[in-house]
Amino acid sequence: MARDTILILDFGSQYTQLIARRIREAQVYCEIRPYTKPPTEEDRDRVAWIVLSGGPASVYADGAPMVTREQIDIGVPVLGICYGMQLLTSLFGGEVEPATHREFGFAELEVCVPSRLFAGFETGELSAVWMSHGDRVKSMPDGFHVAAKSANSPCAAMVSDDDRFFGVQFHPEVVHTARGKEIVSNFVHEVCGCDAGWTMGNFVSEEIERIRTRVGDKHVILGLSGGVDSTVVAALLDKAIGKQCTCIFVDNGLLRHREAEEVCAFFEGWKGVHFVHVDASERFLGELAGVSEPEKKRKIIGRVFVEVFEEAAASVDGAAFLAQGTLYPDVIESVSPHGGPSQTIKSHHNVGGLPEHMKLELLEPLRELFKDEVRLLGEELGLAHERVGRHPFPGPGLAIRVLGEVTKERCDILRKADHIFISELRAAGLYDAIWQAFAALLPVKAVGVMGDVRTYENVCAVRAVTSTDGMTADWFDMPREVLARVSSRIINEVRGINRVVYDISSKPPGTIEWE
Ligand code: XMP
Repeated sequence: MARDTILILDFGSQYTQLIARRIREAQVYCEIRPYTKPPTEEDRDRVAWIVLSGGPASVYADGAPMVTREQIDIGVPVLGICYGMQLLTSLFGGEVEPATHREFGFAELEVCVPSRLFAGFETGELSAVWMSHGDRVKSMPDGFHVAAKSANSPCAAMVSDDDRFFGVQFHPEVVHTARGKEIVSNFVHEVCGCDAGWTMGNFVSEEIERIRTRVGDKHVILGLSGGVDSTVVAALLDKAIGKQCTCIFVDNGLLRHREAEEVCAFFEGWKGVHFVHVDASERFLGELAGVSEPEKKRKIIGRVFVEVFEEAAASVDGAAFLAQGTLYPDVIESVSPHGGPSQTIKSHHNVGGLPEHMKLELLEPLRELFKDEVRLLGEELGLAHERVGRHPFPGPGLAIRVLGEVTKERCDILRKADHIFISELRAAGLYDAIWQAFAALLPVKAVGVMGDVRTYENVCAVRAVTSTDGMTADWFDMPREVLARVSSRIINEVRGINRVVYDISSKPPGTIEWE
């Protein structure tokens, strides 16, 4: 596959990953790098275009993130977005100043002269764009002209006279910019001339070859959770190496309603990969007995998982590789606007991280992909929409949704409530509009009255959030009638729950899970 790569240099913008996703939606492959890693000699052969992202700094401030003109001018077109445009201005001898009217939110963009950037736009045409800046271009650099303006930005877009350097003050990557998709598509196709070759169909054939070459006649083991990422890895390995792959599914007793049975039925039905089911639910629940502290629960589950997985893997002859569903957002080196490492809120993920002594090479076929691309890939591999569209589910499972001590009885109560909630969301056609939805069992009891009898039972919280990556989230504006049905069914059908509350916290300041 001819792969024209677009390189995004990150200057700390909150939108950097969105830029990448928009470019990939235009079917062109792109990579994100911190600005401290500008293009190398090797990049010259494969990079077709460079994008300088936005960022929170001012180009004139001490210590502002910088690159030199030589570092970014490798003979291919360059696009600067927001901070990126101000950087271009300053690198080419123009001037940037604090704006008297800062622009945050919608602005009307007026295209002043025809340019490839705005192919399809009429001169003088107005369109809504999203701005987020406190600085503006005071004087244009030599050899550049204004391509578009807005009320507060006499230069809202600029183009170099040789048609190689482009700058936009607004954010074409956010959905609020009405014709943002068109502008991104103009960037990548009209200006850089990249082919629309980044499709999941191409990815599948290329990745299958890569896996076959790397694995040879050796054997691969894969920890299967039943979630989207590991299922898609399994489907890919199935196509690439079939019986040379063994999927190990560890049932930790902390899964949702009938989940273990469904995962087993699905994989046992496959003729390709080997499937091993280990029921370790008693072992996990035994180790969790008496533990209420969330981080302790995570640590225990992580440790027991490694022990159980290692035992199961030991019986697989000649395993040389461990496959994992690592995604692109996990491998991007991020630029922290505050300079320091971000604070650990929860000791997330990597529950599947295995000890060094197992001496397995890592195989991470999804490490170039965003979550939405993984879903498309799953469908390309023939997995049903319901399977690849499933909401994310945390590795520690119900242990962090049964607040306080985890027992089988409390997990069973929660499983029933969660199942009712999710079934009602599906029935109302809302499941796909929600990033993640679940029920949590609170460690408090409430008084109620049922059929003239006083009850003293558990409180259940239901939560549904919208999000693009789980990093930030907003609570879902659930229709009243759906909430009413969910509450009534849970209280009537689940013994042990007599009160249901709907969580209306966003992230931040809340988190998605309760623990
Ligand atoms: P929070 O609760 O931090 O969650 O807003 C963000 C996303 O991560 C998932 N999550 C986890 N996933 N192990 C996991 O594999 C964990 O310990 C864990 N904790 C939270 C959560 O479900 C959400 O999708």
